[in-house]
Amino acid sequence: MAATKTTKTTKTTAKETAKKPAAARAKKPAAEVKKPTAAVKRVEEKKKILFVASEATPFIATGGLAEVIGSLSSALAATDRYDVRVVLPLYSDIKKEYRDKFSYLGNLYVHLAWRNQYCGIFTYVKDGVTFYFIDNEFYFKRPGCYGYYDDGERFAFFSRSVLEIMPFLNFYPDVMHCHDWQAALAAIYLKTNYCFREEYQYIRALFTIHNIEYQGQYSLDLLCDLFDIYGHYKYLVEYNNSINLMKGAIECCERFSTVSPTYAQEIKDPFFAHGLDRIIRNNEFKLRGILNGIDDIGYSCEHDNHLFANYSADDMSNKAVCKSELQKMLNLPQKPDTPIISMVSRLVSHKGLDLVTAVIEELLQDDVQVVILGTGDAHFEGFFSDLARRYPDKLSANIVFNGDLSRKIYSGSDIFLMPSKSEPCGLSQMIACRYATIPVVRETGGLYDSIKPLQNGYTFANYNAHDMLYVLRQAVNDYKNKDEWSKLMHRAAVTDFSWRHSAKEYESLYLEMLK
Ligand code: GLC
Repeated sequence: MAATKTTKTTKTTAKETAKKPAAARAKKPAAEVKKPTAAVKRVEEKKKILFVASEATPFIATGGLAEVIGSLSSALAATDRYDVRVVLPLYSDIKKEYRDKFSYLGNLYVHLAWRNQYCGIFTYVKDGVTFYFIDNEFYFKRPGCYGYYDDGERFAFFSRSVLEIMPFLNFYPDVMHCHDWQAALAAIYLKTNYCFREEYQYIRALFTIHNIEYQGQYSLDLLCDLFDIYGHYKYLVEYNNSINLMKGAIECCERFSTVSPTYAQEIKDPFFAHGLDRIIRNNEFKLRGILNGIDDIGYSCEHDNHLFANYSADDMSNKAVCKSELQKMLNLPQKPDTPIISMVSRLVSHKGLDLVTAVIEELLQDDVQVVILGTGDAHFEGFFSDLARRYPDKLSANIVFNGDLSRKIYSGSDIFLMPSKSEPCGLSQMIACRYATIPVVRETGGLYDSIKPLQNGYTFANYNAHDMLYVLRQAVNDYKNKDEWSKLMHRAAVTDFSWRHSAKEYESLYLEMLK
């Protein structure tokens, strides 16, 4: 069991602390661990929710997970019924504008098997949410968030730190809400090492799967030496003769959820479950599907200052300006009546790129323009770059990750294509709607739950390239009927994708867990 050394809480900025050598920081005199009182004060008014995640906007983002952590936490805090806090690793890539504002709270040492690692704690409050950042330069002073040979060790340290900082902060959450495999060990350690201590015994664990494809799988040899899990708990994390951290979290948590009701059904099926369907079915009684929301203030055609011009659901005249400026910027002919079909996506197979590559040349024979934005597999990047050279007047391939350009594309195009093979939730189809750009999606996961045919978009069921092309052509054809199309744009733009509904569903799930 990990022993904890703590220091007195001092206010120092991240900048100041960074100047001190690690050894000097480590040698701070140990102070008494404050006596935990939270466990006995269960009657406090606000429920305490602790998010454990590997990324969150606005600090660090590689995908939809970060947006959900950033926007759901502030939506819950805004209800004033929850004390919401979030723990993240202090990656060196965290934006400097924020990093410089963080306050240093103190440090302690975290044991993991034979390791004994420095754990600094920084904090920052944003939109009523208290963020904590776990500092350890050995693990997190590297470019990016993931993709290192020792990711298992990095996130084991992170998860262990989450439990170790609780006495230091004197904060024991009612619900510890862990997201994806990187935070799975926090739920596992709670049940294997910590819940026997009085102050931890009331903490309930919720585990949310944002994408079942990434499970955190490691050799069983690492069970004790790396993950510090006792042999008699092997059965919790073992799956197919390996350690599977996502499986372990599902077994250990009180409830688990995924990011849309349809995906919650789909992952019981081997086609979607990447091998975990049996575990999902066995634990079905604990499973919920809650559709993500988006930050509908951040994504607003009225206020977004990245756009060439602003417009609203009631007056879309300036959307034409966004379109013609986009065409100009991307060197496409400025044709107001030619529909622009766009994709903002990682260029990987499960996003439906196989369907697109199969029929795009057929589509390009029609009076359309196609705009692609994203990076991914080399063969897709090469395919679209080559196509752009062959059809310079019809297709623009932008093989980059660029937030500013993505917003210009969402607002300047007419149709947004998202034909994913599987999609736990998907946020882009909702963002497209916010900019009155009509999504064409495959009926899977959150795409099925958020886009309703002719209400706010077009859908097709089978993972079939010509089914997709048929529906796309139907949209292109309907686009010519300006009156009907304007009504469709209006309905899409006013669809409520805020967190209002979904945050309530999380609330009722938390309360159910606390009964
Ligand atoms: C993952 C999923 C995506 C989801 C996002 C946020 O990136 O692939 O579908 O929208 O997480 O939950």
